Formats: sequence, C-alpha cells, structure tokens
Amino acid sequence: MTAPARVPVRTRTSADLIRAEEPVLAHTYHPLPVVVARAEGAWVEDVEGRRYLDLLAGYSALNFGHRHPALIEAAHRQLDRLTLTSRAFHNDRLAEFAERLAALTGLDMVLPMNTGAEAVESGIKVARKWAYEVKGVPADRATIVVAAGNFHGRTTTIVSFSTDETARAGFGPFTPGFRVVPYNDLAALEAAVDETTAAVLIEPIQGEAGVVIPDQGYLTGVRELTRREGCLFIADEIQSGLGRTGRTLAVEHESVVPDVLLLGKALGGGIVPVSAVVAHREVLGVLHPGEHGSTFGGNPLSAAVGTAVVGLLETGEFQRRAAELGVILRDGLAELVGKGVLGFRARGLWAGVDIDPALGTGREVSHRLMREGVLVKDTHGSTIRLAPPLTITGEELVTALGALERVLERG
Ligand SMILES: Cc1ncc(COP(=O)(O)O)c(C=O)c1O
Repeated sequence: MTAPARVPVRTRTSADLIRAEEPVLAHTYHPLPVVVARAEGAWVEDVEGRRYLDLLAGYSALNFGHRHPALIEAAHRQLDRLTLTSRAFHNDRLAEFAERLAALTGLDMVLPMNTGAEAVESGIKVARKWAYEVKGVPADRATIVVAAGNFHGRTTTIVSFSTDETARAGFGPFTPGFRVVPYNDLAALEAAVDETTAAVLIEPIQGEAGVVIPDQGYLTGVRELTRREGCLFIADEIQSGLGRTGRTLAVEHESVVPDVLLLGKALGGGIVPVSAVVAHREVLGVLHPGEHGSTFGGNPLSAAVGTAVVGLLETGEFQRRAAELGVILRDGLAELVGKGVLGFRARGLWAGVDIDPALGTGREVSHRLMREGVLVKDTHGSTIRLAPPLTITGEELVTALGALERVLERG
C-alpha cells in the first residue's frame, strides 16, 4: 500500500489569513488583528507563535480556561461513543445532565438548547405559554418587561426589544409584546407591569452594556415585585452565571431565586454550544411534545460536556477563585483610577473599565493591549471589559494589569 500524498503544510501568515477572510466572510464582527491558532488555560498563541493572555475568555464561554483537561477528557470520551441521537430517542447522558444542573441551580427542570439566543427565545415562549395557560392572560396579549441597555442575543424577536440601534436598524418589522424600562429602576418596572405581564426579563448584571451592576436590593425588589404581581422573573445569566461573579449565579449575591434561569456560554465548556432554560416544574411543565424543540439541543456530546462543567462548579473551586482573584482585579483597577481609568465596575473576575476618552477609544486601547500581549474587548465608547478565565493565576492577572498600566501611561 502506498502512503497517501502529503498535504502541503499551510504557511499562510496572520496577515494573509486576515486578508483571506475579507471577501468570503460576512462582516458581522470587527476582530482585533490577531489570528489564534492554539490555546491552553488563560493563554492563546497566534499563527506566528506569539503568546497572549486572554482576558475576554470567549465572552465568558471559557470560564474554565481553554481546553480544561476534565472537559476535554469528557468530550473525547463521548466522541468515541455517541455524539447525536436527536430527541426522537433518549440518550444515556441527558438525564444526569438535567438532574445535576437542576440541583446546582436549585430549580427542577431543564430545557436543553444550544446557543444563548435560543435559550432566551425559549424562555420567552415558555413565559408566554405560562401566561395564557396558568395566569389567564387573554390570547396574544402577553407582555414581557425588559430593561434598557439589555443584550440578550441577535434573533429578530430579541433585537425587537434591544435599545441598541445598530443591533436593530434594518431588521424590522419587530416582534410586539415587549415593554422597555430603565435598568436598576424598580419604580419604572412597577409602572410597566400589569395584568398582561407574563415576565420580567433582565440580566442580573448587564454584560455587554459594560458590566453594569444594579444597586444592592434591585434583584430582591424584582423578585418581590414579580411575586406580588403574579408574573415570572426570568434571569438571563448567560454571561453573568456559572462562576464568573464569585458565585454560581449572580442572583445569589442577593440570595434571590428566579422563576426561570437562562444559561449558556460556559455551560459548553468552550467546546460545544450548550444552553439551557432551567425553571420550576410549574413553569417548564407548560411545554408538551411538538410545541418546542431543537435537533441538537440535549445531544449526548453537549450533555457530557455540560455535565462535566456542572461537575467543576459542584466543587465550588471556580466560584472561590473568581471571588479571591476578583480582589486582585478590583485593587489593581482601583490603583489605575486617575491614571487613565475614569472608573470601573467589578464583581468577581469581571470588570467594565471606563478609560479616559482622551487616551483613545476602547478599541484603540484593546489594540495597544494586544501589542502588550493581552487580549480584551471594548464594549462601547471607551469602556473595555475584562473577563479572564477563572483558571488564571494571580501572577498572570498582575501581569495583565501591568500591561494595562503601561498602555495607559503611554497614552
Ligand atoms: C446576557 C446574554 N444573553 C444572551 C446572549 C446571546 O448568546 P449567544 O451569542 O450564544 O446567542 C449573550 C451573548 O453575549 C449574553 O451576554
């Protein structure tokens, strides 16, 4: 038998690859000019072998770092056995995933989906059905109250209640049935809720808005208001959840349990897209066969990786690391206030940092940090977001903060 012909080694440089994307890839993103080829833990390496500390962590999809050994092992093991069945049949991984995720979150039932936006869409559908069947809202009259500055994803229904014109313009007609109120404003929320309200849908911390943390008491107020008014509290923890803020869920900072929890991003361990709607049985129980579904939702590979993610969170180690390292992050940023940083908001290993606009836009600062070997992402204006993997070490975090200090000093 003759050996197969050798495939020529790809020798394209980062610059070649960036140029090659331009004519063939839809321009929905404006990435920093770094072409990542491999990664481990908190570090990524580009095509030329340059190493960078990853302080974005896939928008918190990589809470456990790149290629966490326990997650990679779970994926490999499952790849060798069974990857997809569809929900037409049962698979032997899904029950454990649902049981352990429900137990981790203190809720009863799980609806497995794939992307964050799908979890949000599913949560909206569940809330509407609950409103008609349980609350008794007249057909097609259900409303959902949301907060200004929200980011819940990119589908046509979700952008219908976005307050970001760039996300909306050109995509109408929009889905009706949403009321937008200012974030962190309980009086406005109370005024918007009425007998048609199926749910209040909010992020416990607004990530894309720049890590906006509501006043202490806001989440408790939302919980009390929704209970009093007989509507659901849906917490979108797709970015804030799963260890990022120093707790399993950001709502735990106020000891609040929502009716419906939306999870995604880190639930897939940075390996596969895994999202979920998690809720009490009285709520998710309104769905029956044929009313909702997904070909890939709950597939055995996702369930195996998701179960391994839940396993990591069950140890409490990552929540603890986020809380402890969060002190280093907060102290380091506090040192930079007045030295190029106007202010910042931080919880756990997550921060929105407002850079003095005189020093450049968030994107320009991100560019300069990239040249210092640190990857971050601007949110808007001169705000950058820091969300390192929860596996980062204290020394690596100090290195990254040192790079930020140098970039700000140089202006
Ligand atoms: C709070 C929140 N909800 C939903 C989404 C949408 O998730 P996906 O991009 O996986 O659809 C995001 C993504 O950034 C998010 O931050």
